[in-house]
Amino acid sequence: MSEHYFTRQPRSAEDRRRFQTELRGFPFLFVTDAGVFSRDGVDEGSRTLIGMMDFPSGARVLDIGCGYGPIGLAAARLAPRGHVTMTDINERAAELARENAALNGIGNVTVKTGDLFEPVAGETFDVILANPPIRAGKAVVYRLFEEAKAHLAPGGAFWVVVHNKQGAPSARKKLEELFGEDSVEEIGKHKGYRVYRAVRSRDQKNI
Ligand SMILES: C[S@@+](CC[C@H](N)C(=O)[O-])C[C@H]1O[C@@H](n2cnc3c(N)ncnc32)[C@H](O)[C@@H]1O
Repeated sequence: MSEHYFTRQPRSAEDRRRFQTELRGFPFLFVTDAGVFSRDGVDEGSRTLIGMMDFPSGARVLDIGCGYGPIGLAAARLAPRGHVTMTDINERAAELARENAALNGIGNVTVKTGDLFEPVAGETFDVILANPPIRAGKAVVYRLFEEAKAHLAPGGAFWVVVHNKQGAPSARKKLEELFGEDSVEEIGKHKGYRVYRAVRSRDQKNI
């Protein structure tokens, strides 16, 4: 049986591949491997989020569940004066993200390994980006939403992509419960994927 892409230490035999692509007008070369999410090309949901995400060039960004790195590395190109922290529970994925940063000459990133926000405990960000691990289950995804709010600086924004068939409407509802109805916006949709942005109000206290 093939193992889940969110395994901490994938045991599947290595099967490294390389592909080139373009994200937001920047060329990228990615190395991927067995045991990581969407290894044959950038996932359509991730591409949708990358195409719509928007933040200042000096933003402090977190890519939570970075996989081999497409979202976080594209964000690093869009925020050359900022910094991107990338985390994943899958050690092989995190190692590939580090390798891909080096391969593409991207220096304004840090890659960490661990469960959700545990590697960034006590840190806050201007922007948090996620193509969440739907297959890990609703409990993990909703915990990710809850903890995202606690790791946003006041006025910071959580950007998330979810497919209609993978619970986009209920994800929106959950975000509205957490952030408030007026603070959640659907930024756009593409091929069934919806991108939501939830903004943390400026006067909420950190938990
Ligand atoms: C849908 S994939 C997206 C991967 C990557 N961002 C991309 O665009 O290709 C979700 C990622 O979340 C990671 N993940 C799953 N559960 C996690 C957890 N508890 N903590 C951190 N990362 C997790 C998976 O290993 C996977 O890489």
